[in-house]
Amino acid sequence: MKNVLVTGGAGFIGSNFIHYFLRTETDVRLINLDSLTYAGNLDSLQDIANDPRYRFVQGNICDSEQIDAVLREYQIDTIVHFAAESHVDRSILGPRQFIETNVMGTFTLLDATRNYWIRDKAHALDDVRFHHVSTDEVFGSLAPGEPAWTEETPYAPNSPYAASKASSDHLVRSYGHTYGLPYTITNCSNNYGPYQFPEKLIPLTILNALEGKPLPVYGDGQQIRDWLHVEDHCEAIYLVLAKGKTGSTYNIGGENQPANLTIVETICDILDEVNAGAEFTPHRNLIQFVKDRPGHDRRYDMDTHKISTELGWRPRHTLTEGLLDTVQWYLAHPEWVSVVRQRQEYKGWLDANYKSR
Ligand code: NAD
Ligand code: DAU
Repeated sequence: MKNVLVTGGAGFIGSNFIHYFLRTETDVRLINLDSLTYAGNLDSLQDIANDPRYRFVQGNICDSEQIDAVLREYQIDTIVHFAAESHVDRSILGPRQFIETNVMGTFTLLDATRNYWIRDKAHALDDVRFHHVSTDEVFGSLAPGEPAWTEETPYAPNSPYAASKASSDHLVRSYGHTYGLPYTITNCSNNYGPYQFPEKLIPLTILNALEGKPLPVYGDGQQIRDWLHVEDHCEAIYLVLAKGKTGSTYNIGGENQPANLTIVETICDILDEVNAGAEFTPHRNLIQFVKDRPGHDRRYDMDTHKISTELGWRPRHTLTEGLLDTVQWYLAHPEWVSVVRQRQEYKGWLDANYKSR
């Protein structure tokens, strides 16, 4: 790993990964290519913007000429591919962009990489890696008591987002099988932590609660997700890059599966304590059950046996500590929050998704 291209590094997990990576690897050059959609935010990387090992390039993974030029200019030998449209509710209201970015963008990136690494033999194939960051949502939904998903579970994506990610996983695998592109894939469960865009359940709940706004819980709130602190995800990706077997996929999960309603109630209880005396205490009074997400997956659960036995990875954060840290992070970063929330796009999204619920 000498010249690393991170795509989507201005997003939630990408920016956390860049921080993690630059803390862990000293002798490396890292190029962050991001088109800066509504979800991209360079404020999340302000502290390392002038690090001589780091370079930001504004660019789109669908632009093959630009990708080709970046690969060659920086002699990229390692790619960590985060760039995607990532929000399920947006994929329900407008699926086209998910196909453009997640399917066509991943295809464009793969094809440019194949040309550079395989056709033009830019590096020895033992020295390169295309790592694709994917999701547990490709597996669909579990009934109560069904066993957790393993790396062998057949794909059954339910939302346009999940289907677009499943397609991208298949494309990556096919480039390995057909052209010999050295790749790894990780499928991870729900992340939470610093720098998460407040359209997702945990930051939305924290920020709405602080303003005394309703806390929307879809349906009966008994849907189950597997929650993982974003730093644990970054560590797992790093380990897969460093030690994972080429051509392998690894499941990553947090061993935490409370119902959505429990997550929202826990955040309310944390705020009652850390923000004691706030006008809206007890925050649980703000919870509102609203119309369910169409096609809402009921339950996720990841079997992480493979990554724990092969690479020795286990999540370090418990959900209780992780949620407390996350609430405290949002309280301590009012500037980051206010810039994101003042954007017209964000206000428009809240109206589009919640007004008719
Ligand atoms: P995010 O929405 O916060 O960030 C996505 C980033 O990609 C943004 O910076 C955006 O500007 C950039 N981007 C979007 N389209 C682009 C394009 N065409 N070209 C270049 N950049 C583009 O997403 P996230 O939550 O950080 O997720 C990152 C990756 O991890 C995604 O691939 C997602 O599917 C996957 N994932 C996310 C989670 C989760 O819980 N958030 C869990 C598992 C896997
Ligand atoms: O499982 C991994 C996936 O987790 C990632 O691949 C996605 O990129 C990421 O967005 C996330 O998807 P979810 O749909 O699970 O995340 P979200 O935070 O949107 O929702 C979490 C749960 O909370 C889900 O069951 C829907 C519910 N929810 C969400 C919102 C935004 C609510 O009840 N109310 C809400 O307002």
